[in-house]
Amino acid sequence: MKRAHWGSRIGFILATAGSAVGLGNVWKFPYMAAQNGGAAFLLVYVAIVFTIGISVMLAEFAIGRAGERNPVGALRRLKGGPWPVVGYMGIAAAFIILSFYSVVAGWTIAYAFKAAAGVLATSDPEVLGAMFNDFSGNPAQPILYHLLFMALTVGVVAGGIHGGIERSCTILLPLLLLILVVLAVRSLTLPGAMEGLRFYLQPDFSKVSAETFNGALAQAFFSLSLGMGVMITYGSYLSHRENLPRSAMWVTACDLLVALMAGLVILPAVFAFSFDPQAGPGLVFITLPAVFAQMPAGVVFAVLFFVLLVIAALTSSVSLLEVLVAYFVDQWGWRRKSAAVALGFIAFALGIPSSLSLGIWSNFQIAGRSIFDFLDYISSNLLLPLGGLAITLFVGWVILPQAMREATSEGAHPFPLAGIWRVICRYVAPIAIAWILLSGL
Ligand code: PHE
Repeated sequence: MKRAHWGSRIGFILATAGSAVGLGNVWKFPYMAAQNGGAAFLLVYVAIVFTIGISVMLAEFAIGRAGERNPVGALRRLKGGPWPVVGYMGIAAAFIILSFYSVVAGWTIAYAFKAAAGVLATSDPEVLGAMFNDFSGNPAQPILYHLLFMALTVGVVAGGIHGGIERSCTILLPLLLLILVVLAVRSLTLPGAMEGLRFYLQPDFSKVSAETFNGALAQAFFSLSLGMGVMITYGSYLSHRENLPRSAMWVTACDLLVALMAGLVILPAVFAFSFDPQAGPGLVFITLPAVFAQMPAGVVFAVLFFVLLVIAALTSSVSLLEVLVAYFVDQWGWRRKSAAVALGFIAFALGIPSSLSLGIWSNFQIAGRSIFDFLDYISSNLLLPLGGLAITLFVGWVILPQAMREATSEGAHPFPLAGIWRVICRYVAPIAIAWILLSGL
C-alpha cells in the first residue's frame, strides 16, 4: 500500500506543533520555571531548546523521511544492526507516556466540566486542594475520564494521517493559540501582575544548579516530543520537497512561544492574588481556579482555560498513539483502525495503576516515588534523553552524508547552518546529554 502523506505543508507544521504543544507547556513548564529560579531556568531552557532540541528534531525528521517508516522500521532500513533497539525504546516510551498522559488529560476534561458547572468558583485554596485530592484519588471517576480521553485519541488516530490527525490539528491548534492570547491579556492586565512578570523575567542565578540543567533538558525533550520517534514517524509522512530545517525551526519556535505564554498567563495571575507559584503539579488544578474565582467573569475564563488544556493534550496524545499504530501497521501489517483501538486500549489499561497510585495505591512506591511519578520520571529524565543521545549519534556518525542530503532535500533547499548542525549531532549533543544525565545520577 502507498504510504499516506500530509495534505499540505501548513498541515504538517500544525500537526507537528500540535504534538509538541501540550500539557508539558501549560501544566508543567510554569511550575518548573517557578521552582528552578524563574528567569534563570528560562535562559537555560531556551539555550537547550535552540541547540540540542532543534538539532534532535531535525535529525528525527531526516531519519523519518529517509527511512519512510515507523522508528523501528526506519532505523532497520537505514542501517540495521543494533540501531532498531532505539526504535523499540521509543515504542516503550510511547506506551508509558501515553498511559499517564491520558490520566492527566482526563483530569482536564473533568475540570472543564467542573468549571462550567461553577463548582470551582471558590477562592479558598484549601477547599480547592481538598477537591483536587478527592477527585484525583478517587478510584473510579478519574479512570472514566481517562477512558473518555483515550477514546477521543483513538477516534482521531483511526481517522488517519490526513483525515484524522492533520484535520483535527488544523482546527484545534489555532483555536488554542487564540484562547491563550485572550488569557494572557486578561492575566497581564490584572492589578499586581507586574510582580509576577518581574519574577518570571529577572534571572536569579543563585538558583542555577545541576538540577536546573537536568530539569531543563528533561523538559525540553518532553515538551518538543523528542527522543522517542514522534518526529521520525511524522517525518515519514512528508514529501521529499519539504524544507526540513525550516519546519524544525517553526515547530520549535511555536512550542517555545506557547510555553512562554503559558508562563505569562499563570505566573502574573498567581502573584496578583498572592498564591505560591512553587505549588508544583497542583498549580494548575488548585491555584488557578482560585485565581479565576476572584476575577470578573472568572467562570468564563476558567472554562476557556481547561478547554485549552484538553485541546493541547489531545493534539499531543494522538502523536503518541500514532507512533504505536505506525509500528504495528508497518511491521506487523495490522489495519490502522484495529491497531488504534487495540493499542489505545492497552495504553488505557497501563494508565490505571498510575491513576490509582494517587489514591488507594499511594502506599505502593517504586524508588521512593508513586507509580505515576516514577513513570513520568523515567520517561522524561531517562528514556527520552537517552533516545535523543542515540539519535544524534546515529545521524552524526552513522548516516551523516545521507542525513545531510536529506536536510537539504538533495540540494533543493540551502541550509546555511549545516556545519553547526553537524557539530551538534556529532559532539555537542551527545556529550552534553551524557554529562547532564550522569550529573543527575
Ligand atoms: N510534547 C507533549 C507535551 O508537551 C508531550 C509529548 C511527549 C508528546 C513525547 C509526544 C511525545 O505535552
